[in-house]
Amino acid sequence: MRKYLIAGNWKMHGSKVSIGTLLEALKKAKLTDKADLAVFPSFTYLAQVQQSLAGTPIRWGAQNVSAYEQGAYTGEVSVAMLQDFACHYVLIGHSERRHLFGESLQETAQKFARAQSSGLMPILCVGETRDERERGQTLTIIQQQIAAILALPAGIKVFSQAVIAYEPVWAIGTGLTASPQEAQEVHLAIRDFIAKYDANIANHLQILYGGSVKADNSAALLAMPDIDGALVGGASLQAEDFLMIYKTAAV
Ligand code: PGA
Repeated sequence: MRKYLIAGNWKMHGSKVSIGTLLEALKKAKLTDKADLAVFPSFTYLAQVQQSLAGTPIRWGAQNVSAYEQGAYTGEVSVAMLQDFACHYVLIGHSERRHLFGESLQETAQKFARAQSSGLMPILCVGETRDERERGQTLTIIQQQIAAILALPAGIKVFSQAVIAYEPVWAIGTGLTASPQEAQEVHLAIRDFIAKYDANIANHLQILYGGSVKADNSAALLAMPDIDGALVGGASLQAEDFLMIYKTAAV
């Protein structure tokens, strides 16, 4: 059985004080072996998160990473730096990176490879825009985003140590959510696509849903057979809301 993962993407939100309060509340949660819990602060708060969460079962990761190993790359943060703060995961190709910062398919693949070769677990974010959905291109776009990663030398094996998050761009931060059936359809298509290369890897792959996940819609989404967790933005900034979502996975 696949374990659920409930991941909180804090994006460019928070302060030392607000994150301190959030962490204290999250630490009180009782985790079960049905679901993992992870948070993704901005780089500047990773030290604080590590200090607070070390020794707890809650994991943490970064929202982005450099495609380069080290060197004269002003403003970039390397995989080794993330490992210095005991990150377990890193988000790769979040739609805000792809669409607001022009991250290309090739860059997502380089970042993914860099992270994975050092033992960080990449969470590859994929998803279509509203226009692409309306043009019936949802699966084509997602397959392109996954194919860029499959083109890495290790091929399909890369997905034995990775997570995929399906996040329809039109559902992120908009209050619009894909219905559980709409999401399930895409999750199943992603799993089938991976299964064409390796059925066992597809079967073990965690596929998270993201896009306006809230405590009042998470249970229905997580009840779908191919939805293995949630990548939560807005609702992860309030401990109570985030833990309510966790509880819907952990029952
Ligand atoms: P949202 O963000 O829950 O605020 O829609 C999700 C995400 O971007 O990961």
